[in-house]
Amino acid sequence: MTTDMPGARSFGPLPHPGEPGPQPLLQVDGVTLQYKTEKHLVTATYRVSFDVYKADRFVVLGPSGCGKSTLLKAAGGYMAPTEGSMRLKGVRIGEPGPDRVFVFQEFDQLLPWKTVKQNVTFALQSSRKMRGRAAEEQAMRYIEKVNLGKFANSYPHTLSGGMKQRVAIARALAMEPDILLMDEPFAALDALTRRRMQEELLRLWADTHFTVLFVTHSIPEAVLIGNRILLMSPHPGQVKGELNSAGDDPVDPVSGRKLSDRIHEMLFADRVEEQEVVPHG
Ligand SMILES: Nc1ncnc2c1ncn2[C@@H]1O[C@H](COP(=O)(O)OP(=O)(O)OP(=O)(O)O)[C@@H](O)[C@H]1O
Ligand SMILES: [Mg+2]
Repeated sequence: MTTDMPGARSFGPLPHPGEPGPQPLLQVDGVTLQYKTEKHLVTATYRVSFDVYKADRFVVLGPSGCGKSTLLKAAGGYMAPTEGSMRLKGVRIGEPGPDRVFVFQEFDQLLPWKTVKQNVTFALQSSRKMRGRAAEEQAMRYIEKVNLGKFANSYPHTLSGGMKQRVAIARALAMEPDILLMDEPFAALDALTRRRMQEELLRLWADTHFTVLFVTHSIPEAVLIGNRILLMSPHPGQVKGELNSAGDDPVDPVSGRKLSDRIHEMLFADRVEEQEVVPHG
């Protein structure tokens, strides 16, 4: 694995050599994830390891089909590794829980029959995180944070795609999860809105310092959003390297090249392999 960090500002609590570091929030250790279909065994990721520390904006970057969404599913507790382990705060992840909350790409992740405020309040109440007035106040606090206070009583179908994503983010952050799992949350937005949402996410992070595991296949998005970036190889996904980013696409003082150019080179160094489909039975 490459750990390449010259010129990069480190947000992650990298331990000094010889000093024990803090325990990672999420430890992914040698994780192989497979799907058994009727005819095939599909290996989505192969022996993937990485650590996410508290307040990391940890980005998983890789081409389509390399297993990014599958990794998030496993972190969410919806799928068990066939090999290796995933631990949250040292405890093996076994099932879904309100300590891990998803934001997806799709605009239809809100309940259409509930208003913006009811969507957020409902999430808090149904997870038994909060009830009554406390849930409403918490909902409004986070709706205000994403600048949708005026739309608290609007229904999702009256909102733009970007606004719906902001509600989904407010709902997720209101839960105050240990880790936010974001699967290409801005990929379906137009370029200008996407850029605005990326900036907004960074502003929210500066405000509350949440921990996020963020999946994308956009190099510029990874460089902007991530303080740490995990590069994955094509299917089946394996770790190609891990890099630090300071958000402004820094130039490496040694090679004189931009971080995004180095990532591009690392990702496309190998030819794209054919889909590996292993028959079983
Ligand atoms: N439910 C499933 N059953 C069988 N195979 C699956 C299933 N879901 C995903 N796969 C396979 O697992 C591999 C990884 O899929 P995954 O969706 O995790 O990739 P990804 O990196 O998120 O891709 P994308 O960038 O296109 O979203 C792919 O080969 C895919 O075909
Ligand atoms: Mg995906």
